Amino acid sequence: MAGSLRKPTLDSCPYSSSDTDDEGVRGTCEDASICKRFAVSIGYWNDPYIQHLVRLSKERKAPEINRGYFARVHGISQLIKAFLQKTECHCQIINLGAGMDTTFWILKDQDLLPSKYFEVDFPVIVTRKLHSIKFKPLLSKPILELHSEDTLQIDGYTLDSKRYAVIGADLRDLSELEEKLKKCNMDTQLPTLLITECVLVYMTPEQSANLIKWAASVFGTAMFINYEQVNMDDRFGQIMIENLRRRQCDLAGVETCKSLDSQV
Ligand SMILES: C[S@@+](CC[C@H](N)C(=O)[O-])C[C@H]1O[C@@H](n2cnc3c(N)ncnc32)[C@H](O)[C@@H]1O
Repeated sequence: MAGSLRKPTLDSCPYSSSDTDDEGVRGTCEDASICKRFAVSIGYWNDPYIQHLVRLSKERKAPEINRGYFARVHGISQLIKAFLQKTECHCQIINLGAGMDTTFWILKDQDLLPSKYFEVDFPVIVTRKLHSIKFKPLLSKPILELHSEDTLQIDGYTLDSKRYAVIGADLRDLSELEEKLKKCNMDTQLPTLLITECVLVYMTPEQSANLIKWAASVFGTAMFINYEQVNMDDRFGQIMIENLRRRQCDLAGVETCKSLDSQV
């Protein structure tokens, strides 16, 4: 089905002052997606979509990095598929801090889409993703094929379609998050899978706990996949912390990632 994407309305700027403080955290989206794109480019796994969202790094990544990303992507994908099988796809998935994630397109190719797939990230990140979706037919066509109208509504910092929504919101502001998800027809009665892939560590333990409590209170049936750093006291963890600090990115939740025990 042919279709076009309406131009995002960029006349109102929703960025708050804390947005500028979060620049380092948003930079981690680029780190993760560039590492995934590199691993895909040398055959660690198949993802025909990531090249349309992320540039290819000129630098080679170390095998440990590529293997780590393979385990991360494969592990989460296995859990998502188990949830979809259990619910026979009569469910919704909410990927929180999704960045340039391509799971929506991959699940569509596998005929495994949930009733609706939602993504949330900071408005600036969402704007970047929506720009790629708008101009790359390989990304926009699959969304339009599932949509009843031939034009998609990209309104400011949100894309909403029948089976896929991308929402610009701050995960620390739960009333805003809930309101925006509801506006995109989130159904609290459907079994819901929430995913945070390397996201909670950038929020304080209290903010993460509030997000998890919110999920537990809002949905009738929910499962939460959290993929996070661990053993941050070891040499590898210390180097990661130092590198991120140098780029003004504080790991606000790192205290809880010191060991498996502290993370429970
Ligand atoms: C390390 S990246 C991971 C991205 C993606 N989950 C992946 O694994 O490829 C962390 C992501 O979380 C997002 N994020 C962190 N804190 C957030 C917040 N308070 N609200 C919205 N997004 C947030 C960042 O913008 C970034 O895209």
